[in-house]
Amino acid sequence: MQAYLLEFVNFMLRWLHVIAAIAWIGESIYFVMLDNGLKKPKAAEDREKGVFGEMWAVHGGGFYHNQKYATAPAKLPDDLHWSFWKSYTTWLSGFALFVLLYMANPSFYLVNPNANWEWAANMTGWQANVLALLFLVGGWVVYNELCKRISPNMTRDGLLSIAVAVMMVLVAYLSTQMFSGRAAFLLTGAVMATAMSANVFFWIIPGQRRMVNAMKAGETPNPLDGKRGKQRSVHNTYFTLPVVLLMISNHYSFAYNHEHAWVIMSLFIFGGALIRQFFVLMHAGKIQPAYPAAGTALILVAFWVAMPSSQPATAVVDGEATSFEEVHALVDQHCVACHSSEPTQPGFAAPPAGVAYDTEDQILRQKSQIQQVVASKYMPLGNMTGMTDEEREAIAAWSE
Ligand code: HEC
Repeated sequence: MQAYLLEFVNFMLRWLHVIAAIAWIGESIYFVMLDNGLKKPKAAEDREKGVFGEMWAVHGGGFYHNQKYATAPAKLPDDLHWSFWKSYTTWLSGFALFVLLYMANPSFYLVNPNANWEWAANMTGWQANVLALLFLVGGWVVYNELCKRISPNMTRDGLLSIAVAVMMVLVAYLSTQMFSGRAAFLLTGAVMATAMSANVFFWIIPGQRRMVNAMKAGETPNPLDGKRGKQRSVHNTYFTLPVVLLMISNHYSFAYNHEHAWVIMSLFIFGGALIRQFFVLMHAGKIQPAYPAAGTALILVAFWVAMPSSQPATAVVDGEATSFEEVHALVDQHCVACHSSEPTQPGFAAPPAGVAYDTEDQILRQKSQIQQVVASKYMPLGNMTGMTDEEREAIAAWSE
């Protein structure tokens, strides 16, 4: 019952998380489009009012006329629309999912028993939980310090972008050395997503509040508040595509269980950011196909790096292929406690990822997937059932 309850809550939280993220990222993409697509106002009276740009749009059977003021309108309306709950809801629901799934089962999901760093391979569940939290907080602290130290007055934003890019490669590298591959992809995405939400919470919204308060008091707002909000928003724009990719990566073990998973992850991050750049420029009327071409090229390099080896196992070449009976016995011994329509492993209410090996037919049909997850050591999860390297070789050498 408890396992079922957790699974149900997980399902509902995931729903909330995806909906909130669609609303937040959708709005963010919309405002970048709006900002970049503004035209000079046509009417002289608008220009006199201080309107700096406008956009006419038709949507859902109505006509919309957006106007942006160079500084602020002469009088602020009382019912200003603010955007922050979409961001906070996305972060909070995402964090709750992380706690429910990863932190509730750290030895399954966070610890990588095959990690290169011995201390990481031997972490207890609690240590892994604390390390994961430190990783998230540390990511924000480092990113925020980079922004504050490198470009405090928004005059060195180019250099700052390079520093943030280098930081992300480091985050990708460290996460894959310390955590299981699946958690590493998620945590790297979460470092970016946390920076995005924290940018809204600590900088963008407080800056906007100071600007509004200054205007209400009849003072000139500090222009740095506006510029800083813009700087952090621009970072958020380039984080969106990579974050979404990393958040949906959990079923693609070919990417995150690769020995060079951090390289694959970095290629995806830069590929996504380059593709985003194309759209940012496109909304400003500049079509520059070099960006998506470069982004696609990086993703193709990732495809090439992650490609599974097509070499047949040595045992197959030597004519010592494993029979189906032997494979069946290994699957029974090492997989079926979890992968069954009625799992016996505590904590599992249903076959994980919908994968069950109760019948011969089920095993035969999923041969290549079984070989892939066993060879990459993704399965058995956390090597709970103690599969040896010889047994992995035997599954690789299953050739019928
Ligand atoms: C301790 C429980 C456990 C054991 C033992 C286990 N698995 Fe899994 N397996 C899981 C969980 C949990 C998932 C779901 C992970 C996810 O959500 O991506 C999973 C997912 C999978 C997937 C789907 C991968 C994906 O992401 O779509 C395959 C294939 C798989 N396991 C094969 C195996 C094989 C083969 C064995 C035995 C060698 C095995 N598993 C042993 C828990 C286990």
